[in-house]
Amino acid sequence: MKKIKLDTLPPKGLHGTVDIPGDKSISHRALMVGAISEGQTTINHFLWSQDCQNTLEALRQLGIKIEADKEQVIVHGKGVRGLEASAQPLEMGNSGTTTRLLMGLLAGTDFTSRLQGDSSLSKRPMKRVAEPLSKMGAQIEITKLGTLPVIVKGSKIHGTKLQLQVASAQVKSAVIFAALQADTPMTVIEKLPTRNHTELMLRKFGADISTEKDQKTINIKPANRLRGQIVNVPGDISSAAFFLVAATIVPNSRITLKNVSLNPTRTGILNVLERMDANFKILYRENNDESYGDIEISASNLKPVRITGVEIPALIDELPLVALLAACADGKSEIRGAAELRVKETDRISTVTQELSKLGVLVTELPDGMIIHGRKNWKTNTVELDSHGDHRIGMMLAIAALRTDQELYLNDPAAIAVSYPSFFEDLKSLLNVRK
Ligand code: S3P
Repeated sequence: MKKIKLDTLPPKGLHGTVDIPGDKSISHRALMVGAISEGQTTINHFLWSQDCQNTLEALRQLGIKIEADKEQVIVHGKGVRGLEASAQPLEMGNSGTTTRLLMGLLAGTDFTSRLQGDSSLSKRPMKRVAEPLSKMGAQIEITKLGTLPVIVKGSKIHGTKLQLQVASAQVKSAVIFAALQADTPMTVIEKLPTRNHTELMLRKFGADISTEKDQKTINIKPANRLRGQIVNVPGDISSAAFFLVAATIVPNSRITLKNVSLNPTRTGILNVLERMDANFKILYRENNDESYGDIEISASNLKPVRITGVEIPALIDELPLVALLAACADGKSEIRGAAELRVKETDRISTVTQELSKLGVLVTELPDGMIIHGRKNWKTNTVELDSHGDHRIGMMLAIAALRTDQELYLNDPAAIAVSYPSFFEDLKSLLNVRK
């Protein structure tokens, strides 16, 4: 397992500007919706990461022609019933989004598909998708443990009214994709509102899909025709979040992050930063179907925070960073209602607790969250931190290291390429601006 030396406390802080790479969730969806539309879909600012590449290759295996270079991806869609059987199993790599959304996309086809993934993905729960899809007539086989490999036997899909048991945009999106292929309209009701990129994108491509006032009830009509579009992918706020936190916790910092997604179903981290007294402003904002803008942020002292269940979906991937913010705040913070963290790329309650403890942070693990006692100076008791093969844990630790002046190494940094291959380059650029 390779390890790298991490940058530690920069005396003059972080300075400069980062143009944030494309949003991972939107990049996956643009490929998939493009594939089942008619004509050409052009994707600008696509996220070239391992996860999105898994979706791209899987769609090619399903008979979709995709032209791609660094600047642009062009998907030649074949319509709602245009996917073709793949002779080989579909390789999902580490990507939960690819797996779960494809299960929905493949549910109404007239062929059988086999989905397989790496060892971490093969431990993650797939029953949460298989179960609601089965209620719509899908035929899906999962292992006894409810995991990959998954076999989807395409079948007739019927629209029903479904109440989802977990607040998960991936589960909701799988159901929506299946509903497009159904013979009757469908209503899906979420436990809590989750990211709405699938709904926004499908509407743009011409689907009849509406969200009720409660933001939790979604009505989907079967789709005969979707039409290819131009999709401009905004920067991923889940990637921007690493630098939002870095600038906040490293003294003397002031940075600007450009082209950051500001979709309200994703901006929970901004609400938390505000409550903790962070110092940021939105310099510019474009309110499209997918809103985005530029954020300027500088260092500040932080107040502790309490996070509860209703807030979780809008900041689910940022919770390791919230724990880091809390570790730097003045007092006791609490994250609750976040048991979903246990079924991410790693059990993030456990990996965050283990790794922050190595840095001398006082963290107590709870079944559904963490209690964190923040303080200005940590008593680091290791030289070796570990990503545990989880991209977001690796990046959070690289940011945490900036608060210490100890020599620190990170095991398995390669995992970071799952969502942010240019992370270290962008971090270096902020460390190298002279002030
Ligand atoms: C995602 C939804 C979230 C998130 C994941 C991406 C998506 O997962 O954690 O990184 O693109 O729909 P859940 O929907 O399972 O919470």
